[in-house]
This record gives sequence, C-alpha cells and structure tokens, in this order.
Amino acid sequence: APAAPAPITALGFTAVPKSLADTVSVPVGYTASIIYALGDPLTATTPAYRNDGTDTDFENRAGDHHDGMEYFGLSADGTRRDVNGSERGLLAINHEATSNLDVRSYYLHANGGTVNPRPTAEADKEIAVHGISVVEVRKTNGQWAYVQTSAFNRRVTPLTPVQIAGPVRGNALVRTLYSTAGTAARGTLNNCGTGQTPWGTDLTGEENWAGYFTRAAGDDAARGDKSVVSLNRYGRAQGSASRHGWETAGAADQYARWNISKTGASTDGTDDYRNELNTFGYIVEIDAYDKTAAIKKRTALGRFAHESASFGLQRAGQPLAVYMGDDSRGEYIYKFVSTANWDAADANSANRIATGDKYLDSGKLYVARFNADGTGTWIELDIANTAIANYATYDFADQADVLVNARLAADAVGATKMDRPEWCAVHPTTGEIYYTLTNNSNRRVEPASGSQHAVDAANPRAYTDTKGAATQSGNVNGHIIRMAETGNTNAATTFSWDVYLFGAEAGSNATQINLSSLTADQDFSSPDGLWFSKNTGICWIQTDDGAYTDVTNCMMLAGVPGRVGDGTVATLNYTRADSTTLSIQTRVGRAPTATTLKRFLVGPVDCELTGCAETPDGKTLFVNIQHPGENLGAVANIANPALYPSHWPGNAGYGAGGATARPRSATLAITKNDGGRVGN
Ligand code: FEO
Ligand code: CA
Ligand code: CA
Ligand code: CA
Repeated sequence: APAAPAPITALGFTAVPKSLADTVSVPVGYTASIIYALGDPLTATTPAYRNDGTDTDFENRAGDHHDGMEYFGLSADGTRRDVNGSERGLLAINHEATSNLDVRSYYLHANGGTVNPRPTAEADKEIAVHGISVVEVRKTNGQWAYVQTSAFNRRVTPLTPVQIAGPVRGNALVRTLYSTAGTAARGTLNNCGTGQTPWGTDLTGEENWAGYFTRAAGDDAARGDKSVVSLNRYGRAQGSASRHGWETAGAADQYARWNISKTGASTDGTDDYRNELNTFGYIVEIDAYDKTAAIKKRTALGRFAHESASFGLQRAGQPLAVYMGDDSRGEYIYKFVSTANWDAADANSANRIATGDKYLDSGKLYVARFNADGTGTWIELDIANTAIANYATYDFADQADVLVNARLAADAVGATKMDRPEWCAVHPTTGEIYYTLTNNSNRRVEPASGSQHAVDAANPRAYTDTKGAATQSGNVNGHIIRMAETGNTNAATTFSWDVYLFGAEAGSNATQINLSSLTADQDFSSPDGLWFSKNTGICWIQTDDGAYTDVTNCMMLAGVPGRVGDGTVATLNYTRADSTTLSIQTRVGRAPTATTLKRFLVGPVDCELTGCAETPDGKTLFVNIQHPGENLGAVANIANPALYPSHWPGNAGYGAGGATARPRSATLAITKNDGGRVGN
C-alpha cells in the first residue's frame, strides 16, 4: 500500500475576506469551476436548461438545493470502482429542497407558480427536483466537467422505489397503501447530509421530511391512538399545512400520499396514507456504481431529522460505529454500533448493498448525555431499558417502535438537548468525533417555557445579538463540539468532550461570546457542513447563517484542530432576573492560530455552503452552493430579474441567462493553480 499522505499542519493559503458580493471568492492561487447546476441534463437527449421556468423532465436533470455530497472514484477507462481514482469519478449529490414561498417553487415556474390547488405540472417538477443525483465527473486537460452522456448518471426522487431494511421492515408502523407488507416505500426526501461507507456506498440523511405532509384538523380524534403522540413529537400536529400543497394536485397516488390524515376504514393504515410519515426519516444507502442495486432505508440507525452519517475509524475485530445528529432545536446526538465486527476484506466487496445488510441492519442505537465535568455517556435505546419500557408519554410496542420513535425514546432516557446537531465528522487519524451545533434560538439562561432549553456545560451560551435587521437570542452563532471515545473503541459507552470552536464575530465579548478568540480572518456563525479530508486531515467547516449575513455571505473555513482536552475550563457568568449569578463551566479547546484556522471561501448572495468531497489525491475539492438568491421576497418579483437577490452562476458565465439569470444551486470543483493539494 502507498504511504499515507502527510497531514497539513499549517494552512498555506491567504485567508479570504468576508464578502457580500454575488460571486464565489477563493484564495489567490486557487480556481473554483462551476461543474453541475440545477437543471443540467443527465442524458444525451435531454435539452439544455433554458432556466426561464419552462423546463421540464427533471427526472433527467440536476435537482435543486445541492446539499451533502460524496465522491466515488472510477478507473481511468470509466468501467469500475477505483478507490484511488482522482481524475474520474461519480458524485452522489443530495437535492434537499427548493426555494419556496407560499407553496410555490418560484424559480421553477415561468410565472413563479400557482397556489393551491397546485397544477399537476408544477407539482411534478417540484417533486422531481428533490432526491439525489448520481453524476459522472471527469478532469480533462486540467478542467473538471460533468459527463452528460455517462451511463452512471441517474436521479433518485421521492417516487423511486426503495426498500425498508432492518428491524422496522414489515412492522405495522410502516404498512401503507403502497406496501401493505411494510417492506417498501417510495423515494427519499429532504436529503441533507451524507456519509460514505467503508465499502464504497453513499449514505444520505432524510432531514425535514415532516413538513411536506399535511394533516387535517380533527385527525387526532379520527386516529384515536398513540400515533398522535408520535406525530406531534415529529412536528405534524393536526391542522399542519404541507410545504408545497402537492396533495392538492390530483387524486393520483403520487399526490394523495402527501395527506396523512386517516381517511380509510382499516385499523392498520393499509387503505390510506396514515403511516406514510413513518417511511421517512432514515439514513438511506445507495450504491452509486450500480443502478440495479436496491436502495435501502437503514432503519436500525433510527428515525429523526438526519444530517450526516460519519463512520468511526475502522478497527479490525471491533464493530463499526456510525455517528449521527438530529437537526432541530433541543434534539440529540446519536451513535449506531454494528453487531458485526469489521472485516477489512469487506472494503472491496463486490456486492456492496449486501455488505450494508451485514453492518447496518443489526446493532445498537445510542444517544448522548453530556456531563458538566467533561465526560459523557452513550445511553442505549433499547426496549428492555425500563425508562423506555415504562415511559408514561408513549407506549412502545417493540424495538422497531423505539427506532421509529427514537426522539421519544431519547426523551425517556434523559439525553442532553443540544443546540441543533447538524453534521458530524470523524478525524481521520485521531478518531475523535466532531459535531456542528449550528445555533439555537431557544437556549436561555432561564427558560420561560417548555420549548426553551436551559444553558448547560455542553450548550453554554445564551446571549442577544442586536446588530443587523433583527434581534436574535439564544446561542446565536453556534459551536462545534467534539468527543473522544473512552479507550478509542467504537463500542465505548463513555466519552470525554470539549468545544473545538465557538462561532462568534471577531471583537465580540471575549468572556461570554468569542470564547475561541476568533480573528477577522476566522470569524463565522452557524457552522453546519463539517467534513474531514482523509488526505490532508483538514477540517472543512461550512456555514448556514441567519445572524451574520448582514456582514458577509455564507462561507467555508479550513481548520487544523488539536485534541479533546487541549484547552481550558471557562466560566460563563449570567445574571438571573432576580439579580443572582448563574455560573456555567464549559470546556474550550485551544484557541486557533493564524495558520490553524482560516476562511477559505465565501459564496454568492443568500446561499448556504454545504456538501464537501475530495479526490483521493487531495488535489480537487468539490463543494456545493445551495440556494443562492433564495430570499426573493414575493413571488410576483419573478417578473423582474432586477429584483432577484442573486444571478449566480449565470453572472459567472455558467448556463443561460447571463447577468439577469435566475439563480441556481451548483457544484464547484476547486483546484490549486500549481497542481498541489487543496489547503497546502
Ligand atoms: Fe439541511 Fe440541517 O440542514
Ligand atoms: Ca445542513
Ligand atoms: Ca442549517
Ligand atoms: Ca439551506
């Protein structure tokens, strides 16, 4: 085997300044090429994207809101998997959502779209822009481009047949009109973060799926069973409207399914769509190399608002660990530990989905509790746990019920409510586990209601930010927490933790807010995407910010972190309403230096930076620009391009429309002009 590439210990580039420009900024000496944008055709016969709202056939085009992304190397002749393939490969790209106002995805329709009842042609487009792309990318004469005619290209949408795998397969909770046996489901939805298995498949996390479904007023009484508790816990109270109103587009199954109210006579959900919601919220495994392989929802990893799925280091003879977060205010951090021990020969398995069956369909699901002394505990979510078995709020029937209602089980065992766990990522040599906690507008010194969360050691900040357009409260800027498993074992049930970085504006209060002493070259807010390069060891941090966009568009930073426990204990003092002091002690990692944390990229207006993947040689970084120009303000503004907040990437010369183009989510290929490794 070739020697492992040397990690980068001092970032070599010059930091990029904060920017409000409608462009992508990268360091001097780097080039960011746009290679794959919303609507790009994926077959030889699909017409070029006009980008004027008249395009159709999105089952054969790039979807919208590019999000998490994984790179899978190909051999030079393009015929087979090559884990070292760095000039030709496949990108599996999540298409999370679509820019939306009052049910309409305005940039997809010539006139901005029509409110309920939705025209079927509009609903069809909006459904098809969700899901996944698999697209071949290739470097020719130093220039990356996607391959329009590649036989690997495909889309997975909310209508693609998938299998339900693992302990929930066949359970009464997932029996639907579509699959009365509870073994199949249609498609995947609101795909946010990703992961890559050690055997070379894509994992995609279903995040904010609940909002796509409507539930009628009065449905609580119509159901009259414990499913109401589950629906309320997962964000679908009766009377909730759907995000797009697709259920109004017709009586056909692909529209009717978005109404999950009880309308049939059966008691098991097989003559209506009442269980449809239980078929979303999973980590889904896809083999990017094989269109014929089954797509599987891996239910053993639990059901919640999934972000990424990041594997702990593979250690021979130990089980695998998969780390996951649930992105909602006050939700939890999870770990799955496989029953099977790792066999290194499986890294080259010829039947990758069968290997997924081996490792991802049987195991234990844990949730994290963070203690004030810098330790923590993984609590197993098992029906045999009396806190779960005797939980007063919800009567769990079996272990499948625990997995489908993982949030309720985690409530039952008293897990720590976190500041919105977004991506997690595992350091490629230390195995330490990093989680972005993007922000939490409900974190308070003194909670005033059950929906607010009291500051604690692991979520220690609550403050008010009064700059910009709006006053924001809570943990406004977010932080990145990290964990070290006891004994460096994947099956550990205890860990130690500290905070790698606290997001903050440079110059803000150093004892209460800017605890990581960030400078103007390093300051950021609302960390979201998080990804470690296996080549360079760089920690790539991407932002999705609502609190700092008065100063700068969203960004990406490169970090060279230390280790858990390399910093100090900090004390935050808060004054309660009765004038007494609340002191919270937290653990802050060693402050970054000018060469261990730098801003690398700033995106165009209204975008979020998300999705990060790299060629194995470390010389090309793929990054996604999600939803530029998403704040159109009013659907009527679609008639006047001067009112579009962004014209990227048309204004950068990509695709039709030029400087007045409708904005498009897109993938970048970033290279160093001297051919070196990115970040060096
Ligand atoms: Fe889709 Fe939580 O970001
Ligand atoms: Ca995210
Ligand atoms: Ca986010
Ligand atoms: Ca977003």
